[in-house]
Amino acid sequence: MYATGADVKRITVIGSGLMGAGIVQVAAQSGYNVTMVDLSPDSLSKGQNIITSSLRRIAKKKFGEDAAAAKSFIDDVHSRIHTSTDSTQSASESQLVIEAIVEHLKAKQDLFRALDNASPKNTILASNTSSLPIEDIAKSVSEERRSKIAGLHFFNPVPQMKLVEIIRIPETSEEVYQTLFNVTKKMGKSPVACKDTPGFIVNRLLVPYMMESLRLVERGDATKEDVDTAMKLGAGYPMGPFELMDYVGLDTVKFITDGWYANGKGIKGDKLVGPSQLLNKLVAEQSLGRKSGKGFYSYEGVGADKKS
Ligand code: NAI
Repeated sequence: MYATGADVKRITVIGSGLMGAGIVQVAAQSGYNVTMVDLSPDSLSKGQNIITSSLRRIAKKKFGEDAAAAKSFIDDVHSRIHTSTDSTQSASESQLVIEAIVEHLKAKQDLFRALDNASPKNTILASNTSSLPIEDIAKSVSEERRSKIAGLHFFNPVPQMKLVEIIRIPETSEEVYQTLFNVTKKMGKSPVACKDTPGFIVNRLLVPYMMESLRLVERGDATKEDVDTAMKLGAGYPMGPFELMDYVGLDTVKFITDGWYANGKGIKGDKLVGPSQLLNKLVAEQSLGRKSGKGFYSYEGVGADKKS
């Protein structure tokens, strides 16, 4: 069994989108050999581009004008990254598989079933899901694999955000937890442990906070600008809740709260996460936040990182 992070030699990351590419990068930067998997060569090259841009920013900070040192750093990280469109073949050669595909339960269950069949018995299968119960994903794997299943929840942007939540289902073994703890420490992260409860730690607190901010504005108690200013200057938060929702994506906030309100274990039907008219209206208009150029604030013509 892989009791220490050092026993993990190759990590497969499935899904090379925003999160998957970030996880591949931090794993390769910390010395792991990584296979990045996606459905098509086109998606894989998008993932490679995300990694290269991020490494360039890091190299610039680290090496300034020394172009040769920057190139050697970037090439070194890339030399540990392999790409593939075959998830089962890649998983069969890895000790740890981290899934970061689309947030659809059936897609994840189908993938985990295939990975379970193809992987050696000790391979750990972890999911980066934000909102789906790990136990539901684990329903698709064999009894013997259950002890090797966990959640490994990274935060966006992965290279910068220090936290990883390690989610244990009742069957997750202590050895698997320790391995994930050691691997994420080796990646330079600060892991915390949580049971398989909706939102884990961070989102369980953040999502009701965002929803309560919406209610405050819906009731006419304060403006969104004043709520954002208040939380930044009064609570020391780097972003106000409306800026945060624009950053996360309003469709994502709605997807999570709708799911919890309908089915969330221990939070189903709780008015804390009940529907918000203001949120529903913006999502229906496709005002989804930074990614669509407009959410609570407008980002058109000012770059995706600034608001007007
Ligand atoms: P994304 O949409 O940027 O990337 C998903 C990638 O998975 C795409 O490249 C897609 O082609 C690929 N994919 C889909 N099905 C696949 C399959 N069967 N096999 C291989 N590749 C497949 O999504 P993003 O934002 O990177 O999210 C991925 C996961 O991470 C989701 O479960 C999400 O909930 C979770 N997450 C997202 C965060 C965020 O801020 N975006 C934060 C933390 C977790």
